[in-house]
Amino acid sequence: MRHMRNLVCGGMILLAAAAGARAQSEATTLRGAVDDKLLIGAAVMSYQIEQPRLGALVAAQFNCLTGENEFKVVSLQPEPGQFNFGPADKIIDFAEQHNIKVVGHNLCWHNQIPAWEFADADGNPLPRDKALANLKAHIDTVCRHFRGKVIGWDVVNEAISDSPNEFLRDTPARKAIGDDYIEKAFEFAHEADPDAELYYNDYNDEEPGKREKVLRLVKMLKDKGLRIDGVGIQGHWQMHYPAPSVVDDAIVAFHNAGVKVMISELDIDMIPRRQTGAEVGATEKTGADPYPNGLPANLAEEQGKRYADLFKVFLKHPGYVTRVTFWGTHDGTSWLNDWPVRGRHNHPLLWDRQLNPKPAFFAVLKVLNETFGGHSS
Ligand code: XIL
Repeated sequence: MRHMRNLVCGGMILLAAAAGARAQSEATTLRGAVDDKLLIGAAVMSYQIEQPRLGALVAAQFNCLTGENEFKVVSLQPEPGQFNFGPADKIIDFAEQHNIKVVGHNLCWHNQIPAWEFADADGNPLPRDKALANLKAHIDTVCRHFRGKVIGWDVVNEAISDSPNEFLRDTPARKAIGDDYIEKAFEFAHEADPDAELYYNDYNDEEPGKREKVLRLVKMLKDKGLRIDGVGIQGHWQMHYPAPSVVDDAIVAFHNAGVKVMISELDIDMIPRRQTGAEVGATEKTGADPYPNGLPANLAEEQGKRYADLFKVFLKHPGYVTRVTFWGTHDGTSWLNDWPVRGRHNHPLLWDRQLNPKPAFFAVLKVLNETFGGHSS
């Protein structure tokens, strides 16, 4: 009898120990849950991380940051030869203090560039040599400045055409330099920072049409002996677009082409818009603003499920997706409050405007814990 009681007690101790171990292994933060096995990131502005509550949240939750705007060409070099590194350096300093990696975004794009980079005062394309010199000077200076401070660069952003019949978008850089502006950008970036990873980044590149064009570009760069480490799938998505299987197919296709896959700008739009994708210049004048006072609870739950389904796809093939970056932190920081329609109240991220975690946060955390079994919080 006494023997039996001892056994029961022993059993209870064992059960309690098991429960304790489980509680300990369930991390309460995203970065704790991934345990350094995935880069989990957010886009930030330097003034945001200076806000004490938001700064603390970012430091606790993320192991990777992207500058939302402050590493773009017009921010870093507004006037020829005049570089403004202040705001971007603040992000670098914050990241260093909190043991967070930084991704540079971006070196060459058709938006948020100074007009003089590829065009003259009348708006006509510069001669090729002059435009190439501007591209090289920017990439050289910027990549050298951030050497050892960023792990990689979105070298070229959104260079593929959205039109089914065209390969490349007709950007200011392409008009002035020609199709090889893309390879030149990769070449200059590698020369200036040989240790940095180099990425191609785009929206809608999970869709088969654009995906095939990105694959063609990756192959072209590789065939020329140029370094390209990864492809960014921006992930500016909606509740029912795209299907998880489409994302899965794209991840596998890019992996098979020999590059890392990064979900580089993730958000789930909760209010109506006419277009998919994320062409910054494609604004819409009017649009409904159905949830100005917060997202209804049932929709917040559905959003959590949508995020969980997507994360399961991201993590389905171990090692294929190396980074998932959200485009913002709390809902009030999202660019989707002003795009494609200005001044709306969107709810695309994991925290609400009061910085309370939403169902989407717990849904993502759960998938990360299940996948990585994180040990610390
Ligand atoms: C957006 C920023 O979030 C906004 O603040 C800015 O006004 C416009 O650009 N694809 C990209 C990002 O690669 O750089 C864009 O960021 C969103 C779409």
